Amino acid sequence: MLVQSGEIFISTLIKNANVIIGGQSVETSVLISNRKIVEIDPANTVTADNMVDASGLVLMPGVIDDQVHFREPGLTGKEDLAHASRACAKGGVTSFLEMPNTIPNATTQQLLDDKLAIASKASLVNYGFYIGATPNNVNDLKHAVRTPGIKIFIGSSTGDLLVDSQDALETIFAQTTLPICAHCEDETTVKRNAQRYAGSTDIATHSKIRDHEAAAIATARAIDLAERHQHRFHVLHVSTAHEVDLIRAAKAKHNFVTAEACPHHLFFSIDDYTRLGSLVKMNPSIKTKQDNEALFAGLLDGTIEVIATDHAPHTMDEKNLPYPQCPSGLPAVENYLALMLDQVNQGRCSIEQVVAWMCEAPARVWDIANKGKIEVGYDADLVLVDMNLEKTIRNEDQQTKCGWSPWAGETLKGWPVKTWVMGEEVFRLDSGNETYAKTFGTAIEYQHKTT
Ligand code: DOR
Repeated sequence: MLVQSGEIFISTLIKNANVIIGGQSVETSVLISNRKIVEIDPANTVTADNMVDASGLVLMPGVIDDQVHFREPGLTGKEDLAHASRACAKGGVTSFLEMPNTIPNATTQQLLDDKLAIASKASLVNYGFYIGATPNNVNDLKHAVRTPGIKIFIGSSTGDLLVDSQDALETIFAQTTLPICAHCEDETTVKRNAQRYAGSTDIATHSKIRDHEAAAIATARAIDLAERHQHRFHVLHVSTAHEVDLIRAAKAKHNFVTAEACPHHLFFSIDDYTRLGSLVKMNPSIKTKQDNEALFAGLLDGTIEVIATDHAPHTMDEKNLPYPQCPSGLPAVENYLALMLDQVNQGRCSIEQVVAWMCEAPARVWDIANKGKIEVGYDADLVLVDMNLEKTIRNEDQQTKCGWSPWAGETLKGWPVKTWVMGEEVFRLDSGNETYAKTFGTAIEYQHKTT
């Protein structure tokens, strides 16, 4: 027990784990108390209120998912913060950054603050919310606080947020200092393709409308804006090999463009439409196996530094609508760490790389204070992982409110078994039984510098 300024804090000692520290796995113990990591490798004599024997398990920083759509307020029939944040806890995600296409769209400080207030009473894990760009809210974007950054839909997707005009984009890149991220699909190309394929009821048409060209044109346009305005810019959900090349070329010149890939673009291709139909209808659309490979190669060589989910749930009834009415988006937060741990077990990457992509890099890209690493003084957002546990994903086990997963039926090896958020144990898997806490996470803090 730790007593500080009259308050009593419960301490937890996680003993003998393989702890991922500084890009390496070290067998040691970690002491947490008062929301923080207070000691690494404490003396053998140290005890705590809670002693956790973690022999044979991996202790890693909590995952930071920098792209989710949790639908509250306004679209809570699809998802809400209570369900989504439990799904996070189960999946080892201790912090999320949520997109502004809720209803109302989060485009002003007041609307951002409203979302923060809702989350403070609903979210089991830590939370942050992007401010959405419109063609005429640059003043809101300039003065926004308590936000990771600005989200621009350069191409339209779910909802009505869209900034397509060059003038409006130039103004946003010129006048704001917060990091910007964008959904990059070229609106003109998508509209032209939609006309060409009008009347098609084949789900595979989705990838012909939202094609390679649409993604590459918009990403090139956004990188050009970032370069001319020397503005920090994060390419969301890269889906094509060509974009990986564009980003690699930009990174050879400067360091203010970053990028991310999502599990569905890494692991699904157009070949999966036959098996999964509208469950894999996403924006940007899924592409080819060659694109899957290029994205993975981009992660391995550092071109893409972040893996995020773009968790975008819709109800099964909505997904069962015929194409093209069925909406775009799929849920992923509760399975994406396991999807990547399974890749580690398959020998495609290391657990240290997974930590770099899913914990360290998102904290760095969004200037998140005190998260993403296991270090003394950092927040006690931690995940204990059993690399030998095999589990099959089943729709009926999903915590996400929509109650389905496109990976249902897949057996993965390597799963989170315990999650702590700010020192509180929020999720435990014990002999197949899941236990969740009733606590709330905290608002993420940022250390933004101007460009
Ligand atoms: O497929 C998608 N669905 N892509 C997005 O960018 C938005 C998301 C949603 O909110 O449904």
